[in-house]
Amino acid sequence: MIKIEKLSKRYGRVTALDEASLTIQKGETVGILGPSGSGKTTLLRLIAGFEQPTYGNISIDDKLASSPVYVLEPSQRDISAVFQTPALWPNMTVIENIEYVHPKPQTGLFQPAGLWELLDRYPNELSGGEARRVSIVRALMAEKSYLLLDEPLVNLNPELKTALHEVIVEETKRRGLGVLYISHDASELEYADKRYIMSEGKIGEE
Ligand SMILES: Nc1ncnc2c1ncn2[C@@H]1O[C@H](COP(=O)(O)OP(=O)(O)OP(=O)(O)O)[C@@H](O)[C@H]1O
Ligand SMILES: [Mg+2]
Repeated sequence: MIKIEKLSKRYGRVTALDEASLTIQKGETVGILGPSGSGKTTLLRLIAGFEQPTYGNISIDDKLASSPVYVLEPSQRDISAVFQTPALWPNMTVIENIEYVHPKPQTGLFQPAGLWELLDRYPNELSGGEARRVSIVRALMAEKSYLLLDEPLVNLNPELKTALHEVIVEETKRRGLGVLYISHDASELEYADKRYIMSEGKIGEE
């Protein structure tokens, strides 16, 4: 279980996250909807270990992962993530990016994600949507227990959106992953076990 307790993050005078509490169990999908600027990406960056909390803490499977005086490195966390701006390794091709997290990737995911034509390209040869599709498949292949998704399907065409949503739902259920799924589109979160609204850095009930 990922347990987030009264987590706050301030950037100067901006309070991006304001005493947010949340739990994500293995095998469940938690959805968060919220307007632009409400703190969704900040929450994900804190859970992934890219930011230090101002107050509060995060534990992963009963071990402290983040507090105002301690941050366990992202690579040491049992978490993979898809961020709004995909962070692919620039010196590796698409297939090398994927094989880096899993030496024998499930090639069945390449077709619904439209990756077959892209396998030998480098990240700087991809469009934004293509890079995000690679990042989704790579995150699903990683041998981690939790998955964070920050608007994974935004700006993809409807066919790809439907196909990739199905892949995400099936693959995360099959593997029993704990998922935090952030979206502007409520229909993407209909399948979630729990749904919350984020507003001005606070997490609230729907
Ligand atoms: N590095 C930073 N320095 C200063 N302010 C920041 C920083 N990162 C985020 N913020 C501010 O914190 C607030 C929350 O930002 P965040 O990116 O978490 O929003 P979001 O909910 O992900 O929005 P969007 O839906 O547009 O992606 C915003 O007011 C933003 O301007
Ligand atoms: Mg964001």
